[in-house]
Amino acid sequence: MDLHNIREDYSKQELSQAHCHADPIQQFEQWLQEAITAKANEPTAMNVATVLDGKPTSRIVLLKEVNPNGFVFFTNYQSRKGQAIEQNPYVALTFFWAELERSVRIEGRIEKISAEESDRYFASRPYTSRVGAWASHQSQVLASKSELVAKATLIAAKYPLQVPRPPHWGGYIVLPERIEFWQGRPSRLHDRICYRLVEGVWHKERLSP
Ligand SMILES: Cc1cc2nc3c(=O)[nH]c(=O)nc-3n(C[C@H](O)[C@H](O)[C@H](O)COP(=O)(O)O)c2cc1C
Repeated sequence: MDLHNIREDYSKQELSQAHCHADPIQQFEQWLQEAITAKANEPTAMNVATVLDGKPTSRIVLLKEVNPNGFVFFTNYQSRKGQAIEQNPYVALTFFWAELERSVRIEGRIEKISAEESDRYFASRPYTSRVGAWASHQSQVLASKSELVAKATLIAAKYPLQVPRPPHWGGYIVLPERIEFWQGRPSRLHDRICYRLVEGVWHKERLSP
C-alpha cells in the first residue's frame, strides 16, 4: 500500500487565543455543539487512553455528559480499561472532528461517578442495552458468539421489564488538568491552544504545531 500521497491541506477555520473562552470546558462545549450542528460523524466519540502494567492501551467510547467538573462516559468497571484505571487513575481523551478539521486532547485524573448517577443513566438506556450490560463480561475471552446470545436470552427472561444496573457497570468522570484545542491550518502551520490547570486556575497558551 502506498500511503505517502494521502494528505489533506486544512484551511476551514482558524483559532486565536483571544477568541478562546477563559474556561476550556465552555470552549469544549462550543466546539462539540459545532461538531453536532455540522453533522460530524459520531461527534461524541472519543479515544480513551489508559496505562496497564506500564503500557498504553486505548479504545473509543462515547462521551455522555460534560459538566463544569469534567467528562463522563459509561462502561464495565471490570473491563480491561477498568483494570487499567484501578492501577493508574490518569487517562487521556482525544476527539477528532474531521469535518471541522479539529481535534481536542484532554488529560486528567479519572474517578467513578456516584451509584445514583450511574443508576439514572442506566435506566435511560434502551432495554436491550441494559440486558447486554449483564450479558457481556467485557474484555473477557468468549468461547463463541452463541454463548453471549444465550446469556442475553437468560437475562431477558430473568428481567422481562425492569433491568437493575449491574454493580460492575457505571460511569467515570475525567477531571481535566490539561485541555488542548487543535485547528488544522494550511501548510501544517496549525493552531494549538492549550489550557493547563495550575492551582485551580486555567492558564491558556499557544503551542507550536
Ligand atoms: C463508536 C464507538 C463507541 C463506543 N462506545 C463505548 C462506550 O461508550 N462504552 C464502552 O464501554 N465501550 C464502547 N465502545 C467499545 C470500546 O471501544 C471497547 O471495545 C470496549 O469498551 C472494550 O475496551 P477494553 O477492553 O479496553 O476495556 C465503543 C466503540 C466504538 C467504535
